[in-house]
Amino acid sequence: MNKTKNTLYLEYSNDTPEQVADILRNGGIVAIPTETVYGLAANAFDGKAVKKIFEAKGRPQDNPLIVHICSVSQLETVASEIPEKAKALADAFWPGPLSIILKKSERIPDEVSCGLDTVAIRMPSHPAAAAIIKAAGMPLAAPSANLSGSPSPTTAEHVRNDLFGRIDAIVDGGNCEVGVESTVISLAGNKPRLLRPGGISLEQLRSVLGEVEVDPAVLNQMRPGQKAASPGMKYKHYSPKTRVVILKGSFERFSAFVNGKKNCAALCFNGEGKELKVPFVEIGAEHNSSAQARNLFDALRKLDDLNVNTAYARCPDTDGVGLAVINRLLRAAAFTVVDLDAPLMIGLTGQTGSGKSYFGNLLKEKYGFALIDCDALSRRVTADGSPTLRVLADAFGSDILDASGSLIRKRLASIAFASKELTSKLNSIVHPEVTKLVDAEYAKYKEEGRSAVILDAPQLFESGLDVICAFIVAVTAPEELRIERIKKRDGIDEKKIKQRMSAQLSLNEFIEKADMIIINDDVQPLDEQAEKVYNKYKEIHLK
Ligand code: TXA
Ligand code: MG
Repeated sequence: MNKTKNTLYLEYSNDTPEQVADILRNGGIVAIPTETVYGLAANAFDGKAVKKIFEAKGRPQDNPLIVHICSVSQLETVASEIPEKAKALADAFWPGPLSIILKKSERIPDEVSCGLDTVAIRMPSHPAAAAIIKAAGMPLAAPSANLSGSPSPTTAEHVRNDLFGRIDAIVDGGNCEVGVESTVISLAGNKPRLLRPGGISLEQLRSVLGEVEVDPAVLNQMRPGQKAASPGMKYKHYSPKTRVVILKGSFERFSAFVNGKKNCAALCFNGEGKELKVPFVEIGAEHNSSAQARNLFDALRKLDDLNVNTAYARCPDTDGVGLAVINRLLRAAAFTVVDLDAPLMIGLTGQTGSGKSYFGNLLKEKYGFALIDCDALSRRVTADGSPTLRVLADAFGSDILDASGSLIRKRLASIAFASKELTSKLNSIVHPEVTKLVDAEYAKYKEEGRSAVILDAPQLFESGLDVICAFIVAVTAPEELRIERIKKRDGIDEKKIKQRMSAQLSLNEFIEKADMIIINDDVQPLDEQAEKVYNKYKEIHLK
């Protein structure tokens, strides 16, 4: 959608509810403050108005909205059945940060429920939200007032950055008190089920209801094709542009890890930033989950201003409101968590023909590190009869297979390395499968109690595995030397070799991204360079 609307910006005052009610009655959409996050509201009974919310946010069409009410009598207009348990929850926690899923009434249009026969309902406690719903005289459907995928807005400024020019008005009611979206509980099934943790904790829900199940999507990544109880859980969420990785372990290990790395920032607890050598954003005191919840989304947005590749986040407590914090943080991190008490991962990459694997083996022999060879893993992924091989044949043509169905590697290479686009198509098929095997090998070395694992990966950066490495070593060598080595090793001609080389990152890119450069030109001694790697490892690896 183009930014064509003339968006009114209203500081909340006594006149605001009437002014906003007028816009809503005319089918407009308005961002309003609530105690959790800002919501983008429309008349919940007006399907056409609700549709505008989806357009303004770029929201997927199958992700239903929460309906906001200001009285129990309004509840009867949106739900068709109100079970005792719902009454008990409403008594205990409304108005407040809790959404209850019930069977919907006929007045709720499909645009709100996205075809489900249920509807999520909540009564916000923020005085501005309550006054606006009351003045409008109708329930308001409202998702968080952010662009779909980005962190939810906790200030009017966040809303303005995402939606100015796309909506009719923004009501500025200051910073949101809770800071994460409402708890979502379903009472539409057999047992009460927590779908999304929020300001009302699981412990609080259980104190009223007794047993409450926790949906697996609260803490785990959905597999492709898996059905989500709460459609919103399956989407990429809360993501700043910066890649986020959670580091689990003590602050001592956290600081050793991030201080050794280039081009990263830290998302840490109050008072920790001064111990770090990298840019940082603090999100609240270490064991204060409410403060972390309040600051998290603003902190995620601030990361993008730091202009780094990766932000490493401290791992929060997971009880009380902490469950909501870790739930949002896991999604911001696309579920990437590094355990700092497990073996240190050292990335090893470099130019083709530079002798990267030779250097990896040297490190292994000399210092007793474990070694994961991603080339070998990718051969395993594309072994005869493997599902990935079929996907590759569909993508690149069955010519890549010989009569017996085995992969002709050279043929695939000559097709896929012909352009960056084809190379990334190949990568998007192979990398996720290789990553699964890397995880399995790593788990094995963890079990063995190894102290470090070298991850030998020619496509370390392209695969995204770079972010889990404590530091990255790139091996380089002069071009003529590399061409000679590849000729000897693979017996292919110079034109093919150059093609393969140009499908890789450039030397400058390796230098810019890696933490350490090894020059393998048959002149500079490799032993001394290996020792530098070992020293760096010792700096980071705390006993
Ligand atoms: O705190 C909040 O809940 C904020 C403020 C504005 O009230 N709203 C909010 O809405 O977070 P939204 O749309 O960003 O998240 C609604 C979540 C989504 O995960 C959605 O899938 C889920 O609630 N949901 C809504 N209706 C549902 C239903 N009938 N069944 C299952 N999940 C539902
Ligand atoms: Mg949302």
